[in-house]
Amino acid sequence: MNRTIISLPGDGIGKIVLPEAVRVLNAVGFEADYIHADIGWQFWCKEGNALPDRTVNLLEKYKIGLFGAITSKPKDDAVKELDPSLKDKGFIYFSPIVGLRQYFNLDVCIRPCKSFKHNPLNFIRRNTGDGFEEPLINAVIFRQNTEGLYSGVEWTNPPKLVRDALETHPKMKKFADVRNEDLAISTRIVSREGCRRIITAAFEYAKKFGYPNVTVCEKPNVLRETSGMMVKEAKVIAKNYPDIQLWDTNIDAQMMWLTKNPEIYGVLVAENMFGDIISDGFAGLIGGLGFACSANIGEEVAIFEPTHGSAPKYAELNPSIVNSIAMILSACMMLDHIGEIEKAVNIRSAIAKIIEEGKVKTYDMMKLRGGSDAINKGAATTQQITDEVISKL
Ligand code: NAI
Ligand code: MG
Repeated sequence: MNRTIISLPGDGIGKIVLPEAVRVLNAVGFEADYIHADIGWQFWCKEGNALPDRTVNLLEKYKIGLFGAITSKPKDDAVKELDPSLKDKGFIYFSPIVGLRQYFNLDVCIRPCKSFKHNPLNFIRRNTGDGFEEPLINAVIFRQNTEGLYSGVEWTNPPKLVRDALETHPKMKKFADVRNEDLAISTRIVSREGCRRIITAAFEYAKKFGYPNVTVCEKPNVLRETSGMMVKEAKVIAKNYPDIQLWDTNIDAQMMWLTKNPEIYGVLVAENMFGDIISDGFAGLIGGLGFACSANIGEEVAIFEPTHGSAPKYAELNPSIVNSIAMILSACMMLDHIGEIEKAVNIRSAIAKIIEEGKVKTYDMMKLRGGSDAINKGAATTQQITDEVISKL
């Protein structure tokens, strides 16, 4: 029986790269039925909900989603674009991908950042002599995906109960004279269970794939409670994995280490916001958004998506020039998740081959500015890079 995959192209280039990944999945012999599900900006505008219930129901039933990208806009801009019939009815915009992560408790986000040899976008640094070296990076970021600074518990002009509760904290004295309407609060809430699940997932992954270290990347000297809990739990859990070293770094220092010694890191684990930051940092060393893939994994449902967004500037270009590799690598993570390991390996080695050959490159790989003239300068189209991957399968 074929597997059923819920296909959520979303907005902008999500609609372009997702079908490309499906072409590769077909070519590698992965037999599946794809059911399209609505998500994204047009459903916010037309229905007041970027994540319609029918989409949630499909994921509830079939469990595996392949997601492109969505367009998100600030609250006030979002309201302006609502269909006139929906205005002033109390609709509030909320990012549908954040919504999916929270609804299905997709608390484990995995973002592998692995260099492909000869990728012209790879990080290089000066060596101790006169030359340069190209350290190959193989880091996998485990980002807690549902809590922390992204939990959505926030206010401008907080209700009185909240303000009163906060006033019980001695450090609130310095805000005593700030008028309520001039006060904005975003909370960073972590639960011990949330910490344990992400840290355990990180160690299990390190063990399964032979990574020698797990780095918990937080800021416990300042964020004593939330980062403190992460680091404390990491120390407890690390005892179950005597062959794997536990390192801890501060998020700010970690960003500096990125350009000094990124190749020494294996698995890294962090809260939501910090995980987002370090995964983008590492992604920059291995080729940027055209190469950054991710998985959002819960106990039942899992959704696979490139890290990039909908890149509206490029959505209308015909032919399209964006790099489909991030999306294709995300599809490989889906194959890993459902046990189709060999197919994932085949696709990744096809990608490695085309990069090593270096004959077909998208505009980002040529370090060109994106635009329709990129093709005249020799950049491959989105379709051509996908075709090249397929030709190597
Ligand atoms: P973006 O990731 O969409 O694009 C930023 C830049 O990265 C692009 O202008 C382009 O230069 C490059 N880029 C992105 N994907 C690429 C690809 N596949 N190949 C080559 N180059 C690529 O981020 P931006 O512009 O900040 O946001 C655009 C929209 O996407 C916003 O509405 C934002 O809220 C949303 N977004 C959605 C995400 C999601 O769906 N998970 C994640 C990030 C942003
Ligand atoms: Mg991001």
